Order: sequence, then structure tokens, then C-alpha cells
Amino acid sequence: DHLTVVDHPLVQHKLTIMRDKATSTYEFRQLLRELTQLLAYEVTRELPLTTTTIETPMEDMEAPILAGKKLALVSILRAGNGMLDGVLELVPSARVGFVGMYRDEETMQPVQYYFKVPQQISDRMVIAVDPMLATGNSSVAAIDLLKEAGANNIRFLCLLASPEGVARMKEAHPDVKIITASLDRGLNEKGYIMPGLGDAGDRMFG
Ligand code: PRP
Repeated sequence: DHLTVVDHPLVQHKLTIMRDKATSTYEFRQLLRELTQLLAYEVTRELPLTTTTIETPMEDMEAPILAGKKLALVSILRAGNGMLDGVLELVPSARVGFVGMYRDEETMQPVQYYFKVPQQISDRMVIAVDPMLATGNSSVAAIDLLKEAGANNIRFLCLLASPEGVARMKEAHPDVKIITASLDRGLNEKGYIMPGLGDAGDRMFG
């Protein structure tokens, strides 16, 4: 399906602590990394496997290993970097790209300031990470750029999504699956996710 909400108890528990405004920057960063690892477990579920021959201490065996090219992770700056660390701990050999994008808080339109992705991105599963899918403007624009660079097998991993953002992504990029820890109620008049957790970039980096 287009949207997966990961309802694992550890994910939900950690998310509650992250939402709490009394949670410190240090704890917030730590929790985001832990939570992202649990989301990454879900998003990598469909990675193709092949087999290889190994020798266990007992005998030879045909054992499963990941098939195909290494994954590419793409962090949508700045806040995406908080999730990038978590995924990288689980998939340490992944290639990594960055899309610099901030949201003009007046117009709510994304402004691009950086773009650098790994070579041969078309042969790889690409996981784009950004904690917040609010209006969807930033992520839709980031994925436009990834597709222009050749990506054709993209997943979008976020912490919180709004119904508006999910609808916008589905319309612009129906092929991109979204994996999130929560589908929140909606957006306020400033385009912030409600009840949300505030501005993820600010809570992480100050
Ligand atoms: C936030 C967030 C997303 C974007 C979501 O980034 O990390 O990138 O806004 O909003 P949208 O779905 O309405 O586009 P922000 O612009 O605050 O930049 P930052 O990550 O550098 O803090």
C-alpha cells in the first residue's frame, strides 16, 4: 500500500517522549536515531535476497545475503540528518546523498540549496529520509530531483506525516511508498503538523 504506519510499541513509546516539549535536544536526537532504526527495519523488509555458499563450523551451507546494488540513502537537510544516522547504523554500507531544502515559512514553498547524490542511483533502492511530511512541498520537490537524477525505486521514510502531505505525495509520486511512525491529525494555519512535535530541525539542532 502507499502508506505504512509502524505501530510497534517501541516506536510509539519513543515517539511519545519525542513529542513531549520537556524532552531535551540531547534526548530528542538519541530517540530519533533509535526510532529510525526501527522504521528502517520495516522499510528494508522488501530488499531482495540471493544466496551464497559459506562454511559454518559444522558444514557448508547455502545462506541468504542481500542481492543487487547497495542501498542509497538520501537525507533531506537539515532534519533528515537526524534520521540518516539511524538508518546507517543498520545498513552501514549504504551510499549516501543529500538534498538541501528549506521551507520558506511565508510561502510554505521549498527552497533548494544543495544537491549531491551517489552515482548510478537508478540501479539502487533509494530511501529518502525527513522527519516531517507536512504540506509535502519539500518532499515532493526532493523526490522530483531524485527522479531527474535517475532514481526509480524510491521509499520515503518519515517520523510524522499529515493527511495533507500523504495526499500530496500520492498525487505527485504514486510510486513512492511512505513509511512513518504516525499519521497525525492535520496541519495548522502555519503548515505545522498537529499535534506534532514542533519543528524537528530546531529541536535537533537548536
Ligand atoms: C521541515 C521538515 C521538512 C519540511 C516539511 O524542514 O524537516 O523538510 O519542513 O514541510 P513541508 O512538508 O510542508 O514541505 P525545514 O524547512 O524546517 O528545514 P530544516 O530541516 O533545515 O529545519
